[in-house]
Amino acid sequence: MSEEPRVLTSLDDEGVLLVTLNRPKKKNAFDDAQWDGLASTLHEAQRDPRVAVVLLTGAGGNFSSGVDLASFAGGARPARADGFASAFHACEAAVLGFEKPMLAAVAGVAVGGGCTIAIACDVVYVGESLRMRLPFANLGLVPEIASSYMLQAAIGRQRAAELMLTAEWIDAARAVEMGLAARRYPDAELLEAALAKAREIAQWPISALVGIKRTLHVAHRAGIAAALAAEDAGMRTLAGSPENIEAVTAFMQKRPPDFKQFRKPR
Ligand code: COA
Repeated sequence: MSEEPRVLTSLDDEGVLLVTLNRPKKKNAFDDAQWDGLASTLHEAQRDPRVAVVLLTGAGGNFSSGVDLASFAGGARPARADGFASAFHACEAAVLGFEKPMLAAVAGVAVGGGCTIAIACDVVYVGESLRMRLPFANLGLVPEIASSYMLQAAIGRQRAAELMLTAEWIDAARAVEMGLAARRYPDAELLEAALAKAREIAQWPISALVGIKRTLHVAHRAGIAAALAAEDAGMRTLAGSPENIEAVTAFMQKRPPDFKQFRKPR
C-alpha cells in the first residue's frame, strides 16, 4: 500500500494555496520526504500564476514537531542533484526565498523546525492549543532557518535570548503577546479565520504582494544571510556531538537527557 503524501495542497478560486504538512502520527515531524515535498510545493507555487498566497498548516491538530529525530543521526548523506547538502537545506532555502506572502495557521505542537518555519512566515495565526518551543539548547544544537535572527527581529533581543537559551514552552497567549503571532483563535475556528485573512490578501495584484514582501524583507537580508552562515557552522560542529547524541537517544528512549555526565573535570 502506498503511503499518504507528506504534503497536501489545495488551491481555491481566490488564489489561496492551502499547504498541509501531513504526517499526523508523528506530529508532522519532517523526514526527507516532507522537506522535499514542502520545497517542491513552494517552487511550484512560486511559478503558478494562479497562486497569490500560501497558507501553511499541519494535519491532525498539530503544526509540526520539527526534524524527525529518528532520522537525525543518519550519518553521511548521498549527494543531491540540486546541490544542497540535504533535503532540510533545500527546504530552508525554499522557505526563506519564497517571494509570495506565506501565512501559517499553527495549532498544537510547533517545535524546532515546526517553530522556525512559522517564524519565517509573513503572518502567523495560532490556535489556543499551541505548544511552541525552540528546542535547540536541550538538543545540544543551534537554531536554524535564520530563526536566530528572525526571532530577535520579531520580538527583540531579550525575549529571543530567553526563549532560545531556556528552550521553554510558549503558549498561544504568550506567542501573541510577544509578537510571535498576529492573532489567536479557538482551534475550531483557526483554519477558517486564517483562510479568510489569506483571501483578504489574495484579492490584490500578485505583483504588489511580491513587491511589498520584498520591501519588508530588504532590511533583514544581511541579518538572515549572516545568521544562516553562523547556524550552519554551529550545526556542523554540534550535530553528532556526544551531547546531541545523548539528547536524541534520550528522546527515543523516552527518558530525560543526562548532560551532567559531560561536565566532569578533565
Ligand atoms: N521526530 C520523530 N518522531 C517524533 C518527533 C520528532 N521530532 N516528535 C514526535 N515524534 C513521535 C513520537 O516519538 C511519538 O511516536 P510513537 O507514537 O511511535 O512513540 C509520536 O510522534 C507522538 O509523539 P509524543 O511524544 O508521544 O507526543 P507528545 O504530545 O507527548 O509530545 C512533542 C509531543 C512534540 C512535545 C514531543 O514528541 C517532542 O518533544 N518531540 C521532539 C521535538 C523535537 O525536539 N524536534 C526536533 C527539533 S530540531
